[in-house]
Amino acid sequence: MIRSVVRGNGAALPRRIMKNADFEGMVETSDEWIVQRTGIRQRHVAADDETTASLGEAAARAALDSAGLTPADIDLIVLATSTPNNTFPATAVEIQNRLGMHHGFAFDMQAVCSGFVYAVATADLYIRGGLAKRVLVIGSETFSRILDWSDRSTCVLFGDGAGAVVLEAAKGAGNIADRGVLAASLRSDGVHKEKLFVDGGPSTTGTVGHLKMEGREVFKHAVGMITDVIEATFAEAGITAEDLDWFVPHQANKRIIDASAKKLGIAEEKVVVTVDLHGNTSAASVPLALSVAVADGRIKKGDLVLLEAMGGGFTWGAVLLRW
Ligand code: UT7
Repeated sequence: MIRSVVRGNGAALPRRIMKNADFEGMVETSDEWIVQRTGIRQRHVAADDETTASLGEAAARAALDSAGLTPADIDLIVLATSTPNNTFPATAVEIQNRLGMHHGFAFDMQAVCSGFVYAVATADLYIRGGLAKRVLVIGSETFSRILDWSDRSTCVLFGDGAGAVVLEAAKGAGNIADRGVLAASLRSDGVHKEKLFVDGGPSTTGTVGHLKMEGREVFKHAVGMITDVIEATFAEAGITAEDLDWFVPHQANKRIIDASAKKLGIAEEKVVVTVDLHGNTSAASVPLALSVAVADGRIKKGDLVLLEAMGGGFTWGAVLLRW
C-alpha cells in the first residue's frame, strides 16, 4: 500500500524573543505565575515584516533543504493556520508563489491548534488517493496579531512561528513496521465555541478581532479529549503507549501535557516539550516541537511518533507515524 513518509522537516521563528519578565510592566503578571501555571518561559513575536506567509515560506524552504528537494518536486501545499495574511486568497497560495511554484495546488486548513494534525491527516489522504506525490505540510501562525495585549489571561500564553514537513508517497507493506503515517483520528465539537474563539471575522464584524479564552474551561476538557483521541489512534494501529518512541503533543500548557502523558502511561522521557521555548504557537506548535527533537537527535528514522493537538472549535486529533 501507499504510505506518506516524512522526507524532511524544518522550522522558522521570528527574530524577537519576548521573555516572561517583559510582560511584567505591561499587565499584572509575573514570571513565576506564567512558569508555574503553563511552563512557558519565552515566546517569539513577529515584527511587521514577519508574517504567516514569510515564516511559512522559511519553514518550507528549511524542510525542502532537509529533504534534498526543491519546490519543483512538490505538487501540493497544505498550510494550517488561523492567522492568514489575508482573508483570501489562501496564504498557502501566497507561499506557493513565494517559493516560485506555478504548478500543483495549495490551500489553507483552519482547525486552530489542531490544524497541523488535521493537515497531516489530510495530506496523507491526498497522497494515498493519488492526487499528490509530495506534499509540503506547514503550520504557520502569527497569533501576536490577534492577541488583546491588555488581557493577562491570554497575552502571555501565545507565540509566533512556523514548522513544516515534506510528506512523500512510498510503498509500504501495510503493517505497523512501515514508515509514514500509520493511523489518525480527528474530532470536533462546536458546542464549545465560546470557550476559545476570536471575536471578529469577515462575515460578522468585518474586523479581524481578538482571541478570547476561558482558560480554566479549556483546561477542564483538554486532558479527556486528548487521551480519548489517542486511545482511538492506538486501537486503530493495534499498539499501546509502550510501543511509542516519542510523544509530540500540542504545546499549550506543560500541566496539560504532563497530565495527558500520565493518564496514557507514556513515560516522561518520551515526551517532547518545547512550550518553555515557544509558548503556544497554535498550528505551528507540533511541527516546531518536531523540529527541535529532530535537530537534537532524539527523533530518528524508524522511530514511532505520536502527534496530538487540541484547540478552538473545539477541534482535536492525533496522528501516529513512523519517522
Ligand atoms: O491551545 C489551545 C488550547 N488552550 C489551552 O490548552 C489552554 C488551557 N488553559 C490553560 O492552560 C490554563 O487554564 C491557563 C494557563 C490559561 C490558566 O491557568 P489556571 O491554573 O487554569 O488559572 P485560572 O484561569 O484558574 O486563574 C487563576 C488565577 C485567577 O485569579 P483568581 O480568580 O484566582 O483571583 C486569574 O485571574 O490567576 C489569574 N491569572 C493570572 N495571574 C497572573 C490569570 N492570568 C494571569 C497572569 N498572571 N497572566
